[in-house]
Amino acid sequence: MTRVVLGVSGASGAALALAVARHLVTLGVALDVVVSSAAERTLCEECGKDAMAKLRDLADQLHAPSDIGARIASGSAPVAGMIVAPCSMRSLAAIANGLDDNLLTRAASVQLKERRPLILLAREAPLTLAHLRNMTAVTEMGAIVLPPVPAFYLRPDSVEAVVEQIAARAVDLLRIAPPVALGWTG
Ligand SMILES: Cc1cc2nc3c(=O)[nH]c(=O)nc-3n(C[C@H](O)[C@H](O)[C@H](O)COP(=O)(O)O)c2cc1C
Repeated sequence: MTRVVLGVSGASGAALALAVARHLVTLGVALDVVVSSAAERTLCEECGKDAMAKLRDLADQLHAPSDIGARIASGSAPVAGMIVAPCSMRSLAAIANGLDDNLLTRAASVQLKERRPLILLAREAPLTLAHLRNMTAVTEMGAIVLPPVPAFYLRPDSVEAVVEQIAARAVDLLRIAPPVALGWTG
């Protein structure tokens, strides 16, 4: 069974975590999920008190961010890649600088060192030079920065449609299954 790591950090856009998890579970993927303490707060504030429980239900394994001894902290664990949805500027900075300071950033670092897909839904606006430099650094290391911006050309009619499209694009970038995101038809 294909395994993917889903990291959830404390940027706005917590609904993206649930949408990505749902897409991956629909594809039959087993999820290793790690949620930062800041993300527990944004999940609750933006998606409601039951959001963490919903994420837990979708996860095959939910790891504590402090558990740096979890399986996904090692490159020997066979996973197909990792999505960080959403990705805060703090987690982005930690990944860009190889800090490996919690299980989320360690698992991200593992994907980079093993040359596996790492998709970062980096969310902040506007951006400082530090944010931009960190995005450049992770891109140079092989990660894909996918800012969660709407596909306006598809004329989405709701926030849910925007979230679903971004989540589908993130999953498609793992290249583990045929594309699920809506595409421009010309
Ligand atoms: C409601 C809320 C929204 C936030 N939105 C963002 C955001 O969009 N981008 C960001 O980088 N940080 C945002 N933050 C701040 C992060 O949560 C904070 O920097 C935290 O330390 C990130 O830690 P983490 O990377 O371990 O999750 C937000 C915090 C709260 C409470």
